[in-house]
Amino acid sequence: KYERSYFLPPECTYDWVKKDYIDKAPLWCSVDLRDGNQALIEPMSLEEKLDFFKMLVDIGFKEIEVGFPAASETEFNFTRALIERDMIPDDVTIHVLTQAREHIIKKTFKALEGAPRAVVHLYNSTSVAQREQVFKKSKEEIKQLAVDGAILLRDLAAATDGNFRFQYSPESFSGTEVDYAVDVCNAVLDVWQPKADNKAIINIPTTVENAMPHVFATQIEYIDKHLKYRDGVVLCLHPHNDRGCGVATSELGVLAGAEEIEGTLFGNGERTGNVDIVTLAMNLYSHGVDPQLDFSNLPEIREKYETYTRMKVGERQPYAGDLVFSAFSGSHQDAISKGMAWREEKKLDKWTVPYLPIDPKDVGRTYEADVIRINSQSGKGGVAYILKQSFGINVPQQMREQVGYMVKQVSDEEHKELSPDWVHSIFTDNYVDFH
Ligand code: KIV
Ligand code: ZN
Repeated sequence: KYERSYFLPPECTYDWVKKDYIDKAPLWCSVDLRDGNQALIEPMSLEEKLDFFKMLVDIGFKEIEVGFPAASETEFNFTRALIERDMIPDDVTIHVLTQAREHIIKKTFKALEGAPRAVVHLYNSTSVAQREQVFKKSKEEIKQLAVDGAILLRDLAAATDGNFRFQYSPESFSGTEVDYAVDVCNAVLDVWQPKADNKAIINIPTTVENAMPHVFATQIEYIDKHLKYRDGVVLCLHPHNDRGCGVATSELGVLAGAEEIEGTLFGNGERTGNVDIVTLAMNLYSHGVDPQLDFSNLPEIREKYETYTRMKVGERQPYAGDLVFSAFSGSHQDAISKGMAWREEKKLDKWTVPYLPIDPKDVGRTYEADVIRINSQSGKGGVAYILKQSFGINVPQQMREQVGYMVKQVSDEEHKELSPDWVHSIFTDNYVDFH
């Protein structure tokens, strides 16, 4: 019933494999308000979208896809509201999506009247499945749709004094022959004739992720080498997450030559979502690379995200989940508390604490609430750590085993995690004379 449905490029050089890390943040484009929003059970209201937009600006996004203005009245009105309420900062560019169809493109330009600057993002489907089953068109006819759309964008933009740039996506790229996708992109670029001082964006989506990340990276490497006007093109990726590989796909794709990533906060988006930009950014951060996005107050961002999208961030979501910095087990707690003590003693700036990929404080988390958590799996070191950090009680080495055992036993009997206050009261109830 199933077989591999991706295409390897005509030649693969695997040059990208030779690099082992990314040394500079890519450009980021948030598609929360478009791809993220279109996947919600209950899409955001206009006011919610406006507030979400402000949050994206505060995080540091300079490119924000705000919607598909021809798709609904809310989308159209939202684009108008941003422009009419003068809410677009000077260093931020809004993006809007349009299909390659005349009336849709015209409505899109109407929505953009008076915009200080904008990227108009044109797409049409290019995969074998869509060509055969949905459009019933040949390769040439599908390419012509893209070219006709590109011409209309160019001509409508020229007829206004608006400040527009263009983006093209061969939608369903993941099921498209790679050399054909390049051919379509180059035909679109021939219309736009982009230059280094007025770049166009070529956006490669894994509309439905269907290949392993290294396969996608070899496709991107091929595209990078075969696109025309390369100095005038920003090569962008738009990874989805159907195989759970959106982050790996993005990272390998950047190593293979991509310069921009489109994604969403916490990976919201169609089906299994778009790639999670928080994870990508914090992965860079943990390698000492400035991600150019500010997630130092991640719990607040998460709260707003959960309110507006009515989605939940899972407990184990990298960097953001409730449990991602927590250690319950004795050996982990012991290593963490020794690592913290070592860091303090040596006055280290460098982060070397075992079991914690980054300093939880850097994403607005606290050691007290988030790191050492006590249940029946915990050890004496963890209990001593809580008593010291939260209550200033220094339990002597020779007492630790006994205290640890006593606390664990309560958790075992109650089948519950013990809060720091609970640990404290067990301790003070049993050691009334302790100073
Ligand atoms: O996933 C996709 O292919 C898209 C395109 C419109 C870029 O969202
Ligand atoms: Zn998408």
